[in-house]
Amino acid sequence: MTDASSSISPAASPAAPPASDAPLLIFDSGVGGLSVLAEIRKSLPQAPVIYAADTAALPYGEKTETQIAARVPALLGRMVERYRPRLIVIACNTASTIALAAVREALALPIVGTVPAIKPAAAMTRSGVIGLLGTAATIRQAYVDNLEREFAAGKHLIRHAAPGLVAAAEAKLHGIAPDPALFREAVDGLRSQPHGDAIDTVVLACTHFPLIRTELAEILGQNVQFIDGAAGIARRVAYLTQGQAFTRKQSDFAVFTGDGADEKPLQRMLQNYGIDHIDRF
Ligand code: DGL
Repeated sequence: MTDASSSISPAASPAAPPASDAPLLIFDSGVGGLSVLAEIRKSLPQAPVIYAADTAALPYGEKTETQIAARVPALLGRMVERYRPRLIVIACNTASTIALAAVREALALPIVGTVPAIKPAAAMTRSGVIGLLGTAATIRQAYVDNLEREFAAGKHLIRHAAPGLVAAAEAKLHGIAPDPALFREAVDGLRSQPHGDAIDTVVLACTHFPLIRTELAEILGQNVQFIDGAAGIARRVAYLTQGQAFTRKQSDFAVFTGDGADEKPLQRMLQNYGIDHIDRF
């Protein structure tokens, strides 16, 4: 599910069309946003992209609200100055559930956020029991309480913080086999809670988790379906850029605030997502 509204400041209105080579900036703390980028590529293969990862502050899920709220708008502001994107996707549930409003207030361009896909999950479940895997910071947000109240009233929503899965997804994309215990631990965290054995739908409320969907599915079994926000985000981005021209004047690239730029296995993984190289931001 996407938080689909966007903000354009009065100063920018009526909006001049963006330059045709103005990129989409896809932002996450690490490699998680690649799951969103993959979905955006399907509908907008011609759109130039910069993939931005705040690896210096990864993992966001273990940070405080104050840290995220201070860091994300400021960092995105500097990235906007440097890269002049036409639109930003905050491809991170943690950053979106905490800082989306502040980013919209600070920046005069469309911002698409990512929020836990509780609404579609409530429509999909047959048992009425939904599991939600996210970061510790995401699952404690009032934003999630509100989604539960609004869309999953009368259902059981079982939340579990799974920082180990962020580490597992990072390892996988860095070309290192993740420890299988990390998957077992996350699934046990859901199943061991009251009604946990009846879970038939799992919300992947962290953009890292679709990258390890197969490994989770092996443990959860065939009767459990997954839902995440990527398809909704891609639809929203396509809608907001409707009628705009796209020209790719240079290869798509990534910017990392911390380490990773010179790691060969990671570079190869990113090339699978159409990312040519990684620069240090
Ligand atoms: N990918 C991020 C999310 O969707 C956060 C992972 C992390 O940095 O802890 O929440």
